Amino acid sequence: MDSYLGIDISTTSTKTIAVDSLGKILAVSSSEYAYETPFPLWSEQDPDLWWEATKKSVRGCIAQAGLEPSQVKGIGLTGQMHGLVILDEKGMVLRPSILWNDQRTQQQCDEIRNVIGKEEFIKVTGNDALTGFTAPKIVWVKEKEPHLFEKIRHILLPKDFVRYKLTGEFALDRADGSGTILFDLKERNWSYDLIGRLGFDPVWFPPTFEGTQITGLLTKQAGEEVGLTQGIPVFGGGGDQAASAVGTGAVKEGILSISLGTSGVIFASTDSPRIEPEGRLHAFCHAVPGKWHLMGVMLSAAGSLRWFKDTFRKEASFDDLVAEAGDVEPGSDGLLFLPYLTGERTPYPDPLARGGFIGITVRHTIRHFTRAVLEGVAFGLRDGFELMNEAGLQRVEQVRITGGGSKSLLWRQIIADVLNTEIVTINSEEGAAFGAALLAATGAGVFDSVEQACANTIMVKDRVVPGSASTLYEKIYSEYRLLYPSLKNTFHRIAEDIL
Ligand code: XUL
Repeated sequence: MDSYLGIDISTTSTKTIAVDSLGKILAVSSSEYAYETPFPLWSEQDPDLWWEATKKSVRGCIAQAGLEPSQVKGIGLTGQMHGLVILDEKGMVLRPSILWNDQRTQQQCDEIRNVIGKEEFIKVTGNDALTGFTAPKIVWVKEKEPHLFEKIRHILLPKDFVRYKLTGEFALDRADGSGTILFDLKERNWSYDLIGRLGFDPVWFPPTFEGTQITGLLTKQAGEEVGLTQGIPVFGGGGDQAASAVGTGAVKEGILSISLGTSGVIFASTDSPRIEPEGRLHAFCHAVPGKWHLMGVMLSAAGSLRWFKDTFRKEASFDDLVAEAGDVEPGSDGLLFLPYLTGERTPYPDPLARGGFIGITVRHTIRHFTRAVLEGVAFGLRDGFELMNEAGLQRVEQVRITGGGSKSLLWRQIIADVLNTEIVTINSEEGAAFGAALLAATGAGVFDSVEQACANTIMVKDRVVPGSASTLYEKIYSEYRLLYPSLKNTFHRIAEDIL
C-alpha cells in the first residue's frame, strides 16, 4: 500500500497525516510548541522548533500507521502563512520568524502604500498592505535591524523553511507566495518591479511552484532525521487556508468554505484573479493549479462565543449555552452584537475596532445575549459574503462549514438564514494537513486533478437550508452594517485617548 503525507506547520504545533491511495486517513500525529511575544504587538517563533516538531510528528505518524518508510511516496507541505524567515548566505536563520499575528508593522504598511500607491499596490497584488502580511515585515527589518537586513540572502515562509530542511532547496508554493503581497497576482509569480521599488534584492526570492508540482527530493540526511527514504518527492502544497480549502473541497467556483474556529474564515475559489477593489478581501493564488481565491478573515468568530462563556457562563457547557439560545426567537428581541473583540481584518482592517452589545432593554436575559453572539458572528460572515459579490463572485452553489463552531446545528441554521444559502458539513475534519496530503497524492499521479481528489474523498454529511427567519435577518443585517461606521470614531477615541 502506497501512502502520502501532509505536514501542517501551524502556529501551535506541527501535524503529520498519512493517507492511502484512496485518500483514507491512516494516522495523525502532532508535536506542539509555543510562540513568543517579547514586546506588545510582537509574535515570533524560532524556525528550529518547526524542524524538531516535523521530525517528531513524521516519525510518530509513520509508527502509528504501521508504515514501512518505503511505502511513503510523496510529501505535501502546508502551514501558517505570511511569517517571515530570513537566512544568510550559509542558509542559517538570521532572527526568529516574525509571524502572521504580529502587529508591529502599521507604520511600514503606510510606507508601502506611500511608495507604491495604494491603488496600484492593490491592482498588482490583489491586496492592501496589512500588518499580518510578509512584505511590511521585511521593511521593518530593513529599518530596525539594518545589520541583519544586509546579511539576508534568502527569504522563506514557515513551511518552506521545513521544505529547505527536507530537500535542501529554496522554493515556495504560489498560494503561500501570494500571501507575502509581493506577487503579481495575475502572473502567479513575484512582482520583481514591486520588489525592486521596495528596496529588496530579487535574488532573495526563491522559485515558485503550483501546489501539485515537485519542489525537490528528500535528502539522505533529512531522510535519516525524519525516518523516511531518500528521494521521496516533496510537492508544493499550500498556505494553510488554501490547503484547508482543498481539504474541504472548496476547489471550484461556486463552492465556498467557512471555517468557524477562533477566527472565522470565508473562502471562495475563483477561476480568474478577482480582486475586491479596495483590498478589503484577501485575494491570493489557490493551491489548485491555475486557480485563485478570495478570502475574508474575521478575527473573533467562535472566539467570541468562548469569550462570552468564559466571562459570563463559565460553569455551563457549550451545548447547554447554545441550547438556551435556541429558546430565544430569531433576532434576539432587538439585541445586536458586534464581534470585534480583538480588532478586525474583514471587512474593516482596524486593530482598534471594539466589540459591543447594542439595543439592550430590561426584557433581555442571558439567553438573548448568547443568541445575539451567534447572530453577530453570522452577520460578520455575511459582510465577507457581500464583499465577494462586490468582487464579482455571483454564483454560490454551496457553503461547506468546518471548525469547532460548526458542530452546533443552531449556529449552522442561523448562518444559513443570515447568508440565505444552503450550509453543509462534510466528512473530513483534518483540514489543511489532509489538503496537503491530497495535493501530494495528486502530484504523484494518484488522482488526475485536485478537483477529482476532492470529489473522490470528500462527502457531504449534513445539510441545512435557509428557513423563515431569513427575511427578518435581512432587515437586522441592514442595521448591523451601519453600526461599525457609526461607532468607528468612538472606538478609536476609546483606544487611543482613554486607554
Ligand atoms: C491567513 C492567516 C492565518 C494564518 C494562521 O491569512 O493569517 O490563517 O495562516 O494559520
